[in-house]
Amino acid sequence: APQFPRYTRAEVAQHRTPKERVWVTYGTEVFDVTDFVELHPGGPDKILLAAGGALEPFWALYAVHGQPHVLELLRDYKVGEL
Ligand code: HEM
Repeated sequence: APQFPRYTRAEVAQHRTPKERVWVTYGTEVFDVTDFVELHPGGPDKILLAAGGALEPFWALYAVHGQPHVLELLRDYKVGEL
């Protein structure tokens, strides 16, 4: 299995805009979703609400994300582990 670098939540929180790259966490995994922001079916504004932090509080409200194809998409953007 590939080895990913480890990051702290404080480091992830420094990536909140496309200019500084948009990072999110899901579980203990870290993703750079900058290149997906403009492709998001729910729009760029909504996805940016989670920028720099955890997806879970938002995905708890928008159950559309609880489908296998959404997690498969996310996997392509993985850059690290917490
Ligand atoms: C829809 C991915 C973050 C709100 C979707 C869909 C995908 C997706 C693939 C379409 C699902 C389908 O119809 O089968 C992602 C990813 C995210 C993310 C990869 C983070 C990396 C968020 C956040 C919010 C959000 C943080 C809200 C604050 C929505 C909404 C829709 C949606 C409202 C439904 C759009 C519609 O069908 O009109 N998202 N999402 N998403 N997302 Fe996200």
